[in-house]
Amino acid sequence: MKSTAYIFYCSPAGTTRHLGEVLARSLDRSLERVEVCELGRNRVREEEVLAEIAEAVDRVVVFVGSPVYSSHALPLVMDLIARLPRRPEAYAVPFVTWGGATSGLALAEMGEALIASGYGLVGAAKVAAVHSLMWEAEEPLAAGHPDSEDDRMVRELALAVAANLLRAQPRLLDSCVLDYQPAAAAAVMARQNLDLARQTLPPRKVDEDRCCSCGVCAENCPVGALSLEPRPVFSASCILCFNCVRTCPEDAFEVDLSPIHSYIRQRARDFNEQPLTRTFLPV
Ligand SMILES: Cc1cc2nc3c(=O)[nH]c(=O)nc-3n(C[C@H](O)[C@H](O)[C@H](O)COP(=O)(O)O)c2cc1C
Ligand code: SF4
Ligand code: SF4
Repeated sequence: MKSTAYIFYCSPAGTTRHLGEVLARSLDRSLERVEVCELGRNRVREEEVLAEIAEAVDRVVVFVGSPVYSSHALPLVMDLIARLPRRPEAYAVPFVTWGGATSGLALAEMGEALIASGYGLVGAAKVAAVHSLMWEAEEPLAAGHPDSEDDRMVRELALAVAANLLRAQPRLLDSCVLDYQPAAAAAVMARQNLDLARQTLPPRKVDEDRCCSCGVCAENCPVGALSLEPRPVFSASCILCFNCVRTCPEDAFEVDLSPIHSYIRQRARDFNEQPLTRTFLPV
């Protein structure tokens, strides 16, 4: 039976996109068709791709990628999983990038949600990626990741998934393997979320003298949460990625992230999660 791969991801700072591209290149050689859809930018295209999945006659494998934010996948990624159409011959591979503090519960929660949407798991991956809140820090956590070894592991995952899909009955991953956090750490992570992070992260105040209303911040907002009136104004759909702050050519946002950097480093020490990058396949 032929197989088509659909690769969905949200990637404010680009590392999850990079892995989506590695997957797409690897799968392109072994599957009939590979379609890539970045989440958050174009809802109409998302709906078109979802409609295509519903009608596809081929076997379908959906790769869904999210950065880990506050120990979980991004809400818009979980929303996509909930919107996946129910259909026969549906398989999935969740993958996350995480910044060296903890990969949290994201992969387990994505796996559980994919199964609830009727998609059998045929693989999964957690991949270390430079921490996207630490671009100004000396020695950011997970600096240099994803590196060539991470890419190689992701390529091997893609090839193993493609080979598995050639079977009459593809082997399924036991979702228990994604529940890899120690119980005490998992209890802490379960209490973390983006709404709490919203209260903890410093406010982004715009220096009106520096801001020239150029719009670069709005262009780089992955979810269209920023409007220029004529200075930046954030809507409730902001996911706290800090792309606007990072990409402003005038350095117009007044934000001190150094206390957050200390907090993130402390979390990395507390959780001491190993290995940094790991792929999961059915046995
Ligand atoms: C608001 C926010 C929360 C984050 N929370 C975590 C976290 O809980 N654990 C972690 O290891 N990294 C965390 N990160 C770092 C990202 O997961 C990591 O840098 C990821 O690779 C970013 O993906 P992207 O490059 O596709 O945007 C967080 C980043 C942001 C902006
Ligand atoms: S990128 Fe900076 S200077 Fe340009 S509109 Fe945004 S805040 Fe203002
Ligand atoms: S407004 Fe800024 S922090 Fe919020 S989602 Fe957009 S780019 Fe990210």
